[in-house]
Amino acid sequence: MTRYHLAEAFWFQGGQAVKAIRLSILGATGKMGQLVAKCAGKDRRFEVGNRISSRDAICDLFSNTDAVVDFSTPEATELMLEYGASMGELRTPLVVGTTGLSERHHELMLECSKKAAVFCSPNMSFLVAVLNKALASIVKALAEDFDAEILDIHHKLKKDAPSGTAIMFGKTIAAARNQEFGEVANFLGYTCRERRKHGSIGFASQRCGTAIGTHEVTFAGQNESLKLRHEAYSKDIFAAGALQVTLWLVRQPNGFYTMDDYGQDLLAAGVY
Ligand SMILES: NC(=O)c1ccc[n+]([C@@H]2O[C@H](COP(=O)([O-])OP(=O)(O)OC[C@H]3O[C@@H](n4cnc5c(N)ncnc54)[C@H](OP(=O)(O)O)[C@@H]3O)[C@@H](O)[C@H]2O)c1
Repeated sequence: MTRYHLAEAFWFQGGQAVKAIRLSILGATGKMGQLVAKCAGKDRRFEVGNRISSRDAICDLFSNTDAVVDFSTPEATELMLEYGASMGELRTPLVVGTTGLSERHHELMLECSKKAAVFCSPNMSFLVAVLNKALASIVKALAEDFDAEILDIHHKLKKDAPSGTAIMFGKTIAAARNQEFGEVANFLGYTCRERRKHGSIGFASQRCGTAIGTHEVTFAGQNESLKLRHEAYSKDIFAAGALQVTLWLVRQPNGFYTMDDYGQDLLAAGVY
């Protein structure tokens, strides 16, 4: 663990001194944590401070820091959120990128969001956020008898399936159709000799090699189908996305935020 002891760092914008954001990373020894540190290390708007992994005390994450970025495991994220929720004053914005989270995590994030700005997304790519938004409009334009199927392809070390992004897409489709996600999601595939249930949303996952992350949403109807596909060519997009979100989140009031809130703000500001 590297604990942050340096004096505050500054950079200059239009002759004005701007304080760099002191960043704590949860999951710092992991693939994503290392990338976030590398990416932030090259960016004068950040100072990488506490780097926390499984060998460290979770409380060290919050010492002398302006924001936390979390790419770890559901267990570590839960420890962080429980600790944050128990703090009298949290104040530190939290960017949660860990996937495989449960209802309990969401409750804890809401608890923390009363005392700090909390952001959570299973995918930090802005293009994925654009696709998620587009899905809602497409579903509303389609007749109900278009079958929705979601495929995600990831590397063989990924522990959760379907991916958090696939589930997010499924929830968006269900919400746009006024369906209860839990009632229409089919995670089991089609090996049970049953016909596809009308209105269901099918999930399939492939875990192979070093695949970084591909998501494909298919809407299939009578004699035609529409496929929307996002492919990540490098994990850098997730690290860079998390840092962009951090720059935005430190300016937000306490509350719970998702990619939709971030995207909406960028669109309103004319950035995209
Ligand atoms: N939102 C997105 O855009 C996005 C993109 C890519 C990945 N992800 C997700 O990010 C997460 C991390 O992915 P990864 O590929 O970087 O995983 P990884 O390489 O396995 O790294 C996991 C990290 O978590 C740490 N950790 C494990 N248990 C801990 C504990 N109890 N307390 C503190 N730290 C603990 C590990 O520390 P040790 O080295 O000490 O074990 C390691 O630093 C996964 O959930 C993945 O699905 C999200």
